Amino acid sequence: MDKIRVIGGNPLKGCVEISGAKNAALPAMAASLLSAEAIHLENIPYVRDILTTRRLLQEMGAEAEVLEDGTATLKALDIRSREAPYELVKTMRASILVLGPLVARFKKARVSLPGGCAIGARPVNLHLMGLEKMGATCDVVHGYVEASTEGLRGANILMDTVTVTGTENLMMAATLAEGETILDNAACEPEVSDLAGLLRSMGGRIEGDGTRTIRIQGVKELHGCRHRVIPDRIEAGTFAVAAAITRGDVEVRNCCPQHLAAVLSQLTQAGAEITTEANSFRVRGKDPIRSKNVTTHPYPAFPTDMQAQYMALMTQGDGSAVVTETIFENRFMHALEMIRMGADITIDGRQALVKGGKLLTGAKVLASDLRASASLILAALVAQGETWIDRVYHLDRGYCQIERKLASIGANIERVS
Ligand code: EPU
Repeated sequence: MDKIRVIGGNPLKGCVEISGAKNAALPAMAASLLSAEAIHLENIPYVRDILTTRRLLQEMGAEAEVLEDGTATLKALDIRSREAPYELVKTMRASILVLGPLVARFKKARVSLPGGCAIGARPVNLHLMGLEKMGATCDVVHGYVEASTEGLRGANILMDTVTVTGTENLMMAATLAEGETILDNAACEPEVSDLAGLLRSMGGRIEGDGTRTIRIQGVKELHGCRHRVIPDRIEAGTFAVAAAITRGDVEVRNCCPQHLAAVLSQLTQAGAEITTEANSFRVRGKDPIRSKNVTTHPYPAFPTDMQAQYMALMTQGDGSAVVTETIFENRFMHALEMIRMGADITIDGRQALVKGGKLLTGAKVLASDLRASASLILAALVAQGETWIDRVYHLDRGYCQIERKLASIGANIERVS
């Protein structure tokens, strides 16, 4: 199994290019199941979760080609199987995204119920509630959601918690339902709007994406199209923290700074100097790093997917910061590993008190999930000596060549097989 070795101490300097957003690419690939025609996608990050989704689509009978140059061609003409098996779902919870499209187009689906994971219980009750409101029957049998319908009908659906993939699943299903669906308390994440844009290019009739109320008028069928996926805001944010924590000077290119407004504002409060252009931003890390509290919330507020990375930064702050996680109930596993590197962090339920100014020292650490892995690399970049990060497969699920990109701006980092 691969490991990542980092020797800390180098300020990062230079430019990095951001890849396409994993969390926009995954629903875009699932959306290809809504049409018999080819969907051509661009800016697809060549990461493990994308390859898992390719396999899932292929096993269903779709043609699915994903290339390292970031293009993908997907055609769901001849779908033999309407099933997402446990073996694939257990490695990637986002497989649940095929449920809405399968039920909407084929009236039947069997999708393994994703279990909990390292960051929390992660139920899918709202996905099922929404589909049932649209006229599907959803039963859980032998660990699988078995859904069927005579034909989906538009419905008014209020989700009591903001759910990103839940909103995406229901939006996809509603494009082929009869009549109007209104999704209330919908997620506003840029990835949801990107999916809405793709669905519109396929002939879907959707309004209000990017707000809490999305209206979808069902159509009889959707057609093929070409779509470019948005840049990965979490990858961009991760590099922003890398610049700030190493007191470096990094230009982050090919991204959407407005998708990162809350993150860049937080980093500015923490002392970094940030200038933005239309498709790039530059972060100059400054001394001292200021300890500032943060609380995660749904978009447009500070994202849970940046919480671990920000915590790494706060270990180097000039005082104490409280990091509050409101989205997932168990997303502090990285803190325990940072403590092993010398950080002073006390966890109390959903809050972590991070006392800054501690010298981190390299250690052997375990990555527990995707963003935790990234945060441990960030901590390692300022730690004294050598850090070995194990279970790198978590990182490979969602970061495209992170060690090469970091090395290109001066990090002492390598992958060891
Ligand atoms: N929730 C429910 N019921 C549901 C669905 C969600 O109670 O039916 C709760 C969850 O337990 C959680 C909250 O709602 O407390 C928000 O979860 P959400 O459904 O929004 O998460 P998700 O859609 O499963 C996506 C991203 C995550 C990201 C979250 C929050 C994808 C493929 N995944 O997950 O990304 O953390 O939204 O922004 O889009 C990552 O990339 O590392 C990652 C974990």
